Amino acid sequence: MLQIREMFDHIHKRYDLLNHLMSAGRDVAWRKACCKRLPKKENAVVLDLCGGTGDFSIAYKKKLNEPKASLVGDFAGKMLGVAAKKDSGLKLIQMDATQIPLADSSVDIILNGFGMRNIRDLDTAFSEAFRILKQSGCFATLEFFKPEKRVSKLFYKNIAPLLIPFVGSVLGKRNAYRYLVLSILNFITPKEYAAKARNAGFTLRCIKALDGGLAHIVICEKK
Ligand SMILES: C[S@@+](CC[C@H](N)C(=O)[O-])C[C@H]1O[C@@H](n2cnc3c(N)ncnc32)[C@H](O)[C@@H]1O
Repeated sequence: MLQIREMFDHIHKRYDLLNHLMSAGRDVAWRKACCKRLPKKENAVVLDLCGGTGDFSIAYKKKLNEPKASLVGDFAGKMLGVAAKKDSGLKLIQMDATQIPLADSSVDIILNGFGMRNIRDLDTAFSEAFRILKQSGCFATLEFFKPEKRVSKLFYKNIAPLLIPFVGSVLGKRNAYRYLVLSILNFITPKEYAAKARNAGFTLRCIKALDGGLAHIVICEKK
């Protein structure tokens, strides 16, 4: 776990650029597509879990106009440092997703962009998310899941293992981006992910494949 944190701290300065390059700018559209599917709650308390450099929170803030609180939680302090420079209105919390330092039923919306794949104890992360959500609160995941469709299999098994570490090496972070490809191939499918969410008590609202299954949105609710 320490290694993952160190890795993200190590790439914090170039994380956003690499993200945009490797997704050909689609990460921005994917976050927007996810925000569109979320309710527009008044005075919402929003937690961007594994929020890193804050882009998901910032995208959702635009939809809400004035959330009551926009929290970004991440265990990599340097990633949070980048978020702080982008938007001084974000409240940053250095924390582990498996031990969230927030009260029961205190959050309206949890966002999670490309974070869950990095967590070893997913079941504990789900039960923590369930614990801190208010009733009828939503947990929105945007993630690269284990590929199942033809386009995504072709991309993640044949193209990404060459392309992504290459782009990473041009920017001096080859190993971190080799990890990115492996973590996708070794992750679970969206349906398996939804089953874990259900085990934690969530009700599934939607699973949506984006760009031929390169990424997916999974939205669950605490009913
Ligand atoms: C791929 S980045 C995603 C950042 C951001 N959510 C986005 O949309 O670009 C994954 C983030 O998850 C964080 N992370 C991974 N495991 C974590 C854990 N157990 N607890 C808290 N943060 C974690 C990393 O530090 C990193 O900032």
